[in-house]
Amino acid sequence: MIQVRGNSFDELMATVKILIIPGSLRTGSLNARLAAVIAKEFAVANVDVTRLSLADYSLPIYDGDLEVKSGVPKSAVNLERMMSAHHGIVFVTPEYNSSLPPLVKNAIDWVTRVEDRGRTQGQVFRERAFAIASASEGRLGGSRCLAALRLILSGCRATVIPNQLALSFADHAYDDAERLKHKADADTLRAMVMQLIDVAQQMTRGI
Ligand SMILES: Cc1cc2nc3c(=O)[nH]c(=O)nc-3n(C[C@H](O)[C@H](O)[C@H](O)COP(=O)(O)O)c2cc1C
Repeated sequence: MIQVRGNSFDELMATVKILIIPGSLRTGSLNARLAAVIAKEFAVANVDVTRLSLADYSLPIYDGDLEVKSGVPKSAVNLERMMSAHHGIVFVTPEYNSSLPPLVKNAIDWVTRVEDRGRTQGQVFRERAFAIASASEGRLGGSRCLAALRLILSGCRATVIPNQLALSFADHAYDDAERLKHKADADTLRAMVMQLIDVAQQMTRGI
């Protein structure tokens, strides 16, 4: 049995918890589809993986007056708690006009305002490992959105792993078994998943 710093490899894998956040609520979303494939890859690696829907964390557009009047919405607190309960977080998001959809940016903005259970504002970003992925019908696969998202998360002082996936021509990227049909895409996905597990493992002592 492989031993890693006193724990078995299987024990460590079972300890790591990964949260996947799709950035689209659309029926038939290409990004929700990719999120499902990414989740499967974590499960194959024997990692505890959860996929949420931002539909369950409905939020108004950030408004400072609203925050002063009513505080941070409960959905933002719940989302921050959900993120806090995991070691690694994957955003899988569409590209809108070369950047992030408001759904994703707004969720990040609200979560950075949460102070909860002794955690300070933005602590959840600073103490978690993040991976980013996108799917688009276009040739660039949403890579400009990933650049924007990496900048935003880095601004939150998050650890964003170098490996990422921008899935081009995502409407034709799968075989009949719902696997990525191009080896290059599958290899990129696997490298991202394994790197996130590796980095997240180093953060397991923090929770
Ligand atoms: C407002 C808007 C802007 C878009 N801008 C881009 C873009 O800049 N680059 C791109 O690749 N696709 C763009 N698209 C197309 C989306 O990538 C495509 O609709 C994708 O399927 C959306 O993700 P989803 O299927 O997960 O909902 C845009 C779509 C919308 C609605």
